[in-house]
Amino acid sequence: MMTSLEYNYDLRDEVKAKMKEVEEFCEKNVKQNAIDADAMNVEDGMNLMNPIFDEACKRGYNAFDVPKEYGGLGYTKMESVALLEKMSWYDAGFGITISANGLASGPVTIGGNDEQKKRLYEIILAGGIGAFCLTEENAGCDASNGETTAVKEGDYYIINGTKKFITNGPMASYYCVFAMTDKSKGSKGYTGFFIDKKVDEVEGMSIGHIEDKMGIRNSQVSEVVFENVKVPASAMLGSEGEGFKIAMKTLDVARITCGATALGICQRALDEAVAHAKSRVQFGGPIANNEVIQFKLADMNKATETARQMVKYATRMYMDHVPFSTEAAMAKCAASDASAYVTQEAVQIMGGNGFMHNYPLEKLYRDCKIFQIFEGTNEVQRLVIGRNTVK
Ligand code: CAA
Repeated sequence: MMTSLEYNYDLRDEVKAKMKEVEEFCEKNVKQNAIDADAMNVEDGMNLMNPIFDEACKRGYNAFDVPKEYGGLGYTKMESVALLEKMSWYDAGFGITISANGLASGPVTIGGNDEQKKRLYEIILAGGIGAFCLTEENAGCDASNGETTAVKEGDYYIINGTKKFITNGPMASYYCVFAMTDKSKGSKGYTGFFIDKKVDEVEGMSIGHIEDKMGIRNSQVSEVVFENVKVPASAMLGSEGEGFKIAMKTLDVARITCGATALGICQRALDEAVAHAKSRVQFGGPIANNEVIQFKLADMNKATETARQMVKYATRMYMDHVPFSTEAAMAKCAASDASAYVTQEAVQIMGGNGFMHNYPLEKLYRDCKIFQIFEGTNEVQRLVIGRNTVK
């Protein structure tokens, strides 16, 4: 019998088999280790999770949608979104580490030349994972207000500045960095660079403060510091001044996968709540028999499925090459808001147990919050949706 996820995403047999493999891997390696690492200090957590990320990437879980002509599996976006939702069911920090690789590679697949794409896919297929370096202290929502500069010197650019809250910063093999080549032009002065740690000269590049976070503690986030980093002009993505648009187009796609990761949290919280409601006996019977609990579960299920359809709709538009920026913003908002609602209700159904560290719900409750904040706050998503609505 098909699972609802297989039916929902209309998976081909090959992808169903991959889903099964991913589930087995995550059941064995991610499920419990993610809980253990979450409770550790940052460094110990990273030490526990890093070999698991390495193994997942060795198995190609970072590379589902690498095109066949570059030696990849060539899965569709819909298929990789389904697999991402499944991985995130086990741990959203694990899911976001893998999906941030899509965010990091976006500037190359969108704005890079053939040579850069070839190099990118080689890195990814060898198990490498990337980091998207846009955010800075004074350039969060206001992404075009960056202070990192790239100054041309002969055949090189010299990059200076500090990027903040960079997912996968400490573990990345490649970095897509946005820097001002002409600050006076605002968003039109931004330029993107693709830095391959192995090949490019990266002397002067270092990992700064590593964040200690409230949730998705298994996703590593740090500063990435550039001090007179000399990169060849061939590392530039597109031409000077194109960086902001490349970054925005990348974020449009990433907002879909961000939504898919939040869906993993929704589904896990719902599944945990259902299991608890069926086994918890009060007043002589399982609490799942009470209408008040069933109504909660009904609304949680409805919110999850509604968000999933929005993620799928935006994915379909992306695959059909029709403008999808508005729908991606809607999907990200819907799924992250659903994850906040569903986890809150799941904790409520579990009562005192939901509040305790030895049950998975309190972790999900913390994990979901960032989804309303990163990859563009939900206020920014509303700004995108609103602007496009009045257009
Ligand atoms: N696609 C193509 N072009 C776009 C675009 C898009 N989606 N969005 C904007 N542009 C273009 C505009 O058309 C405009 O070009 P023209 O002047 O030629 O018309 C140019 O870019 C500037 O656009 P705006 O005037 O709309 O720019 P703005 O300064 O008002 O900012 C914003 C718009 C939507 C608020 C944008 O700054 C934004 O998205 N901010 C949020 C940033 C963000 O998402 N950060 C997340 C970081 S990554 C992360 O969090 C990941 C992680 O850790 C896992």
